[in-house]
Amino acid sequence: MAHSLWLFFLLLSSATACDRCVQQSKAAYFSSDSPLPSGACGYGSLALNLSGGSLAAGVSSLYKLGAGCGACFQIRCKDPKLCSSRGTNVTLTDLNYNNQTDIVLSNSAFTAMANQGMAQDVLKLGIVDVEYKRVPCEYKNQNLAVRVEESSQKPNYLVIKLLYQGGQTEVVSIDVAQVGSSNWNAMARNSGAVWDTSRFPDGALQFRFMVTSGHEGKWVWAKTALPADWKNGLVYDTGLQITDIAQEACTPCDDGNWT
Ligand SMILES: *[C@@H]1O[C@H](CO)[C@@H](O)[C@H](O)[C@H]1NC(C)=O
Ligand SMILES: *[C@@H]1O[C@H](CO)[C@@H](O)[C@H](O)[C@H]1NC(C)=O
Ligand SMILES: *[C@@H]1O[C@H](CO)[C@@H](O)[C@H](O)[C@H]1NC(C)=O
Repeated sequence: MAHSLWLFFLLLSSATACDRCVQQSKAAYFSSDSPLPSGACGYGSLALNLSGGSLAAGVSSLYKLGAGCGACFQIRCKDPKLCSSRGTNVTLTDLNYNNQTDIVLSNSAFTAMANQGMAQDVLKLGIVDVEYKRVPCEYKNQNLAVRVEESSQKPNYLVIKLLYQGGQTEVVSIDVAQVGSSNWNAMARNSGAVWDTSRFPDGALQFRFMVTSGHEGKWVWAKTALPADWKNGLVYDTGLQITDIAQEACTPCDDGNWT
C-alpha cells in the first residue's frame, strides 16, 4: 500500500492535477460479448451486472495490475458522421494485451458509440479513433459489495471479490478484522478485483478499504460486512457507497465541455 500511494503522489506532482484527463487512442471490439466477462478482472458472469454489459478491456496503463478493474470510462469515436458526441460509458473488466488500441470494447459498447442507424458502418471499420476519459461509476441501487469466492476455505483462506465500486477511485489496500476488534489483517490483491488472505479471525468480519481520493488515500470502513456464517459464492452488501474522485495528472485537464 505504502508503495502504490507513494507512486500515486509522485505521478501527480509531475503534471497538473485534474478530475479527469482526456486520452486519444483507437478502439477495437470483440466480435462476441463473451470474452469480457471471463476477463482478467475475474468478474465472471457478474460483469454483465456492471454498466449493463457495456464492458471494456484496457491496456496495462488502464488495468494497473488489477487496480483499474471496475473503473468506468466515457468513450466516443471521433468521426462525427458516424458517432455521437456523447459516446457511451463502459466498465473495465479485462486486460487488453494488444497495445495498438488502448481499449477493446464489447460489441454492444462499440455500437453504442454510433449515431442512430450507423452501427453497422462503425462495426465495418473494426477499429476507430476514439477519445476517452475516466468518469465516476454510479450504482444508484447497489452498494459496494463483497463476494466470497468459491476458493475460500474456512478457517484458513478467505478470497473476496469487490463488486459495484462507485466513484472514480482505486482500492489500494484492504484490511480485515473481527467485528468490534481493531486487530486488522492485511489482504493482498490476488488478481484483478479479487483479494485474499490466509490470516483472518473467526466470527463476523469487518473490512476497511484504502481508496484513492482527491490527492491522497482515505479509509472507508465497512463495520459489519460478513456475518459469522459467511458462505462461499454469496454476495454481501457493505452498506458503503464510494463517491470519491481521485485526481489524475495531465495537461490540459478535461474542460467538461464533453457531455
Ligand atoms: C445481477 O443482475 C441480475 C439481473 O438484474 C440480478 O438478478 C442479480 O441479483 C444480480 N447479481 C448480483 C450479484 O447483484
Ligand atoms: C456517462 O458518464 C457521464 C459522466 O458521469 C455522464 O454525464 C453521462 O450521462 C453518462 N452517460 C451515459 C450514457 O450514462
Ligand atoms: C507493442 O507490443 C509489441 C509486442 O509485445 C512490442 O514489440 C512493441 O514494442 C509494443 N509497442 C509499444 C509502442 O509499446
